[in-house]
Amino acid sequence: MKIDILTLFPEMFSQVFEESILKRAQESGKVEIRIINFRTFSNDPHQKVDDTPYGGGHGMVLTCQPIFDCIESLRTEDTKVIMLTPDGVLYKQKMAYTLAKEKHLILLCGHYEGFDERIRTLCDYEISIGDYVLTGGEIPAMILADSIIRLLPGVIEEESHLQDSFNDQLLDYPAYTKPRVYRGMEVPEVLVSGDHKKIDEFREQMRYNRTVERRPDLLEK
Ligand SMILES: C[S@@+](CC[C@H](N)C(=O)[O-])C[C@H]1O[C@@H](n2cnc3c(N)ncnc32)[C@H](O)[C@@H]1O
Repeated sequence: MKIDILTLFPEMFSQVFEESILKRAQESGKVEIRIINFRTFSNDPHQKVDDTPYGGGHGMVLTCQPIFDCIESLRTEDTKVIMLTPDGVLYKQKMAYTLAKEKHLILLCGHYEGFDERIRTLCDYEISIGDYVLTGGEIPAMILADSIIRLLPGVIEEESHLQDSFNDQLLDYPAYTKPRVYRGMEVPEVLVSGDHKKIDEFREQMRYNRTVERRPDLLEK
């Protein structure tokens, strides 16, 4: 998979993709990530990428020209363009699975007051990472990229993410490791019993209980 991230602040990404699983995914060729500053596509002599809103109001709006030119220079018939925007569809694990099947993603990060409305015509998806407003689309783009890359074949063991929260309608089960007793808190007996049938039943029950307690909305669906 190829992921192109279009941003005005490329340096924000310098560490994020250079550690741990995301780094290894690139080194092993499972994903190629490019960070592209769309300011370099501006035809303005001062490389301006924003302007005041028609109709008045505060803040600056990202202009069409640099973003249209940038996306049009990158997109092929295999490309899906994703705008990060608070008024987009709420991002969920199911969408991460859908996007992980694509060959080429362009993640478009906004800033300031957001995008000129006409830029939306370039996009296949408009995605929000939650009901709150951030200063820019960079952190949302990192979140999408991370959640998608870990689902690519061979990046982590498939077994491992199949048991994660949200894959079905349930949250993950509680995990414990050594020591068996820490500050008086004991690991549940069944987990050290060696009886794998009972362990599976216990974990399934814990997933259900935890979901009922914390996220009953998942079960209602
Ligand atoms: C300050 S926000 C613009 C907010 C916009 N005026 C609004 O109220 O919908 C600037 C940029 O940050 C990004 N952004 C902020 N919050 C986001 C969220 N919850 N999900 C995805 N992107 C977000 C978007 O790219 C957006 O264009």
